[in-house]
Amino acid sequence: MIRMFHVFKTFPNKIHALWDVNIHIKKGEFVFLVGPTGAGKTTFLKLIYRGMLPSKGQVIVDGVNLARLKTSLVPYLRREIGVVFQDFKLLYDRNVFENVAFSLRVVGTKNAIIRQEVNNILNIIGLYHKKNTNPHLLSGGEQQKLCIARAVVSHPLILLTDEPTGNLDPETSWDIMKLLFKINIWGTTVIMASHDKLMVDKAQKRVVRIERGEVASDTQKGIYS
Ligand SMILES: Nc1ncnc2c1ncn2[C@@H]1O[C@H](COP(=O)(O)OP(=O)(O)O)[C@@H](O)[C@H]1O
Ligand SMILES: [Mg+2]
Repeated sequence: MIRMFHVFKTFPNKIHALWDVNIHIKKGEFVFLVGPTGAGKTTFLKLIYRGMLPSKGQVIVDGVNLARLKTSLVPYLRREIGVVFQDFKLLYDRNVFENVAFSLRVVGTKNAIIRQEVNNILNIIGLYHKKNTNPHLLSGGEQQKLCIARAVVSHPLILLTDEPTGNLDPETSWDIMKLLFKINIWGTTVIMASHDKLMVDKAQKRVVRIERGEVASDTQKGIYS
């Protein structure tokens, strides 16, 4: 599903965010990306949805070499990849339902399908009773769940999440984790950057550790460190 071959990413300020990364993530896997702040986790995720291109090396997603992908085809790639990043804001002038419906409306999905898909995912994440609420009235955990709902409503092949349990209490964090496991069980490949040690250790999933831009370890049923 995702392969990186000798991937380097150097920013114009000469910072080497990634250094000779080689990885293979299979369809349906759940992978934690761990490592200290500044290690290169967010950069790693951005390369997968072509938020940026590598300086050197190849990123292959679902058989497509992203460096060769025409700009006009990037939206099609992005449709297959759900992203939950901390700087991806909710639409605060629309209610919960419309926040989830938005990406489906953009691609011209029929209203009946939108209703069905959005109600379905809102039920799953436990926010159906708040579908008419404005997101700014939701708790931090609920807003995070809403971001996840929005990312997966179109059944993407891949879900990328960047520190989704960042500012949440342990109970809410585990709630979010269970939701991500569920999405994974349904067939979506999930990659989650995290430095939540408790969460990673409890989850017993594959753990890829990045340190100073390099893959320092890669363990099945791994622990944080
Ligand atoms: N757009 C950018 N321009 C310059 N340096 C960047 C940029 N994005 C990230 N970096 C640097 O690259 C390194 C890796 O960053 P990042 O991938 O965000 O790490 P992490 O998500 O693990 O905290 C850091 O040193 C960071 O400061
Ligand atoms: Mg980061």
